[in-house]
Amino acid sequence: MHKSVKDIIEMKKSKQKISVLTSYDYTLASLCDKAGVDILLVGDSAGMVMLGYENTIPVTMEQMCLFTEAVSRGRENSLIVGDLPFMSYQASITDAIENSGRLIKAGADAVKLEGGEVMVETISEIVSVGIPVMGHIGLQPQTTMLSQGYKVQGKTKDSALQLIRDAKALEEAGVFSIALEMVTKEVAQIISESISIPTIGIGSGVDCDGQVLVVQDLLGMYEKIKPKFAKRYLNLSDEIVNAVSSYTNEVQSGEFPKDENSFSMDEAELKKLREEIGN
Ligand code: KIV
Repeated sequence: MHKSVKDIIEMKKSKQKISVLTSYDYTLASLCDKAGVDILLVGDSAGMVMLGYENTIPVTMEQMCLFTEAVSRGRENSLIVGDLPFMSYQASITDAIENSGRLIKAGADAVKLEGGEVMVETISEIVSVGIPVMGHIGLQPQTTMLSQGYKVQGKTKDSALQLIRDAKALEEAGVFSIALEMVTKEVAQIISESISIPTIGIGSGVDCDGQVLVVQDLLGMYEKIKPKFAKRYLNLSDEIVNAVSSYTNEVQSGEFPKDENSFSMDEAELKKLREEIGN
């Protein structure tokens, strides 16, 4: 049985840190699950790292459902959270509930959406139909980007107070955890200590209850943006380029494939074939 939302909340109570990674496809999802990650987040960052968009704005529900289905086929133990993309929940509560349901049917155990106090009613309604919600405050790529660009959040007293109000409002609305993106570590610590549900930080310091990274950043596979907060545990892009260029060279020189990579006909059958076609 895979992890539940309740297990994730319990982890904060027992002071166990929560590891979260984004995941968009079957192969990497099954490896991350095998490695013991607690939550696989099918983030709308898929739009950038999987589909090559400049930002997350163009991502559609159809795309998010496809990624979620693939991840759900690869998981055994982790909890799956599916991201609601831009304009799939902002226009109406009906949209929000309908689209949350689509992600759940695609294999997610919970959904995530961006926004603080303004999203309280929407979140309460999604939670009231039985769908667990992860909140997301601080830098909100779907909207902060439009007004401010990528900027650290919670640098002033007033913006810190707003973040604290947002976190408390989301907790009251019933979210089971809150992603804190690019929030100053001091404010992330205050929030983490003042709510009972887990905070999952990305670029928000060590005092969050858990951490999330984009899996391509961790593996060193995405070259376009290298965020200061991400740690590269591998340099897979170099390794992939080296492996693919070795393959290309071997194909060109005839070194690949070898006999051991090929299949043979039975001798007698081959002889009959040659006789028939005069070869
Ligand atoms: O889409 C995503 O990858 C996210 C994380 C950055 C939290 O929302």
